Amino acid sequence: MLRVGIVGSGFISGAYLRAVEDFPNLRIIACSDVNSAAAEEKAREFRIQAQSVEELLGNPEIDLILNLTVPQSHGSVSLRAIEKGKHVYSEKPLALSIKEAAQLLSAAAAAGKRVGVAPDTFLGGGQQTARKLIDTGAIGRPIGGTAFILLPGHEIWHPNPDFFYQPGGGPVLDMGPYYLTALVNLLGPIKRVTSIGNRTFDEREIQSGPRKGERIPVQISTHFNALLEFQEGPVVSFHASFDVKEHTHWPIEIYGTEGTLQVPDPNTFGGPVRLLKHRKSVTEVPLTHGFGDRNYRIIGVAEMEKAIEKGRPHRASAELGYHVLEVMEAIIQDGGKGTMLSSSCERPAALPSQLRLGTLD
Ligand SMILES: NC(=O)c1ccc[n+]([C@@H]2O[C@H](COP(=O)([O-])OP(=O)(O)OC[C@H]3O[C@@H](n4cnc5c(N)ncnc54)[C@H](O)[C@@H]3O)[C@@H](O)[C@H]2O)c1
Repeated sequence: MLRVGIVGSGFISGAYLRAVEDFPNLRIIACSDVNSAAAEEKAREFRIQAQSVEELLGNPEIDLILNLTVPQSHGSVSLRAIEKGKHVYSEKPLALSIKEAAQLLSAAAAAGKRVGVAPDTFLGGGQQTARKLIDTGAIGRPIGGTAFILLPGHEIWHPNPDFFYQPGGGPVLDMGPYYLTALVNLLGPIKRVTSIGNRTFDEREIQSGPRKGERIPVQISTHFNALLEFQEGPVVSFHASFDVKEHTHWPIEIYGTEGTLQVPDPNTFGGPVRLLKHRKSVTEVPLTHGFGDRNYRIIGVAEMEKAIEKGRPHRASAELGYHVLEVMEAIIQDGGKGTMLSSSCERPAALPSQLRLGTLD
């Protein structure tokens, strides 16, 4: 049994507080927040104790700090938790840079404490079924794939979306962890990255909550096209954007020498998983693994508890989170130098509409 204390009692903390009911090896005993009203509200709703951040970090009854703060605070809060002698499980990303993450990992190693990091959706039934299909050769040897996380921007639903458009936000650091962690789970580690990132809008408008109508500045790129080369050979094109109104791509497709696998949304725990062998044969594969029927967002912490008990590595590990962070940092910083071309050409003139058959002008 791990006794857990939450730092950061905002939007996502409710999902963890609900999902913990499914995992008797965890007990959330207290929550905290720089905004004490947020902690008190969650404490009332879920009948746990509200404490100040300092009290909670120093609480001797807590074994693990669940860091659900905004990304800009992940590294510093996790480091303070390690310094207080606690294990840590952090929302994604692990930190805002691999430099900051490396400091955290060396402090944890020196203190003999574990660090885990979200997402844990790759432990869900959908992703594990897809993993089993790849491992058992259902699509032959993987050669490539696509991953699409194309969104219109979180300001359409999030009441305080400022951090998504500041350094540390953006579609790659915010949503990339789900897709990149799922891809590493399916195909192994990545060895090379190239990308181009653009900023489509200089301002965004908050569309819900008390600040509805307020315009917020965009300080970062919000539309990325990247190529990921995996150590085992496959090359996946990865698209991440907060500037796309709608699209129809499958979240992840993996192409193999014997077929194609359609992998479900890695921001969920379930399916569907589909196997495409011939042009018109699509099979929906029943999930072979559990934890696919609802939101189990805390399973990574529960799995970590078992790993600590048995003295084995945990799956939603800091090493995995660090690798994914390095990939994301590379995508954001790469600037896609590519090959600049010497030639150019006129865009072909558009044809007139409603041409009669047989005429072209
Ligand atoms: N909202 C979602 O659907 C969702 C889903 C999955 C993961 N996440 C991740 O969870 C994290 C939190 O997201 P959220 O939507 O709950 O944000 P939020 O803004 O609703 O909540 C974050 C809370 O952390 C508190 N906080 C910030 N810095 C702190 C610090 N240094 N010490 C203590 N408290 C601090 C804030 O006061 C706030 O109450 C982010 O990393 C986000 O990427 C969010």
